[in-house]
Amino acid sequence: MNSLINNLVGAYKKDRVSEKLSEVRDQYSKEWYEHSKAFDERKYYEWMAKRVIDYKNILEVGCGTGFSTLNLLNQGHKVIAVDENPSCLKKAEKLLKENGYNVKLILRGKVIAIDSQKYEIKYKDLTFNQVDYDVVLVESDFINDDKFVGFIKNDLTEVIDGIVCWLLGTHNMRGNNSLFNTTITKNSSDARIFVQKRLYQICDEILSSGKGLNIIDRAVYQEDLVEMTKFEHIRLSRGTGFCIEKIKFVDYEEVGKDRGTKMIARDESGGTINTDNYQKVLVSTLSIKK
Ligand SMILES: C[S@@+](CC[C@H](N)C(=O)[O-])C[C@H]1O[C@@H](n2cnc3c(N)ncnc32)[C@H](O)[C@@H]1O
Repeated sequence: MNSLINNLVGAYKKDRVSEKLSEVRDQYSKEWYEHSKAFDERKYYEWMAKRVIDYKNILEVGCGTGFSTLNLLNQGHKVIAVDENPSCLKKAEKLLKENGYNVKLILRGKVIAIDSQKYEIKYKDLTFNQVDYDVVLVESDFINDDKFVGFIKNDLTEVIDGIVCWLLGTHNMRGNNSLFNTTITKNSSDARIFVQKRLYQICDEILSSGKGLNIIDRAVYQEDLVEMTKFEHIRLSRGTGFCIEKIKFVDYEEVGKDRGTKMIARDESGGTINTDNYQKVLVSTLSIKK
């Protein structure tokens, strides 16, 4: 009898993981929509899109609720955009359709609860013909989806001119994905480093010579910002064929306290820093595949 109850409780807790993930993803998408709408109004995405004006066909990693994608499309690019969060993708689809673009949305993730805390996501195979659409939105965890990366490598390497990954961030159940070893990846800053290293490695496999990878992050201004950023990206891209080509930055302001998801800055020991009184910047790093 006890083992039956334990099994039922275990099954209930497992179910809760999927439910909770869905709630958290939904909440994140609502907050990011507000935040990125304000960023769009302030023309930050226009500045970001100019960093990749020379690359016609773009693969966007982590498109969020679509304001970044919209600015790329408005600048004349064709886009394949991926995001791990289906709630974000649905909002992006609506926004881009409302703006007159021809959009294909591919949802393909299945959440599997491992225990009461951990989950993994299995993705279905995919295929699409990019020429039929202005933008294809794909549910994918870019750093953990061999099927998507395999499809791009086999069918689209020659088509993609540049990859962008702007303002990487995520919901607070991401650490419950079995992909992350939380004894090594202890906080959001460790997670960003882990993800960006993988990003450089995967983009190295996808992009052909001469093509570009553009990463834009939020940061606190410091005098040696350009040197520090270059140093950080040399470390992140170590072992790949990328060469750090151009670093640019621009001031930005966070949106109001009650709107959206703020930048989280950390000190050396991993503690959060209150950045309210610091000058904040968007930092763009363009790396070229040799
Ligand atoms: C802060 S939002 C930025 C969205 C968009 N780039 C922008 O600038 O508005 C970060 C997005 O990246 C997505 N993301 C984070 N890690 C990802 C990964 N490994 N694969 C796909 N999407 C990811 C999150 O789900 C989130 O929607």
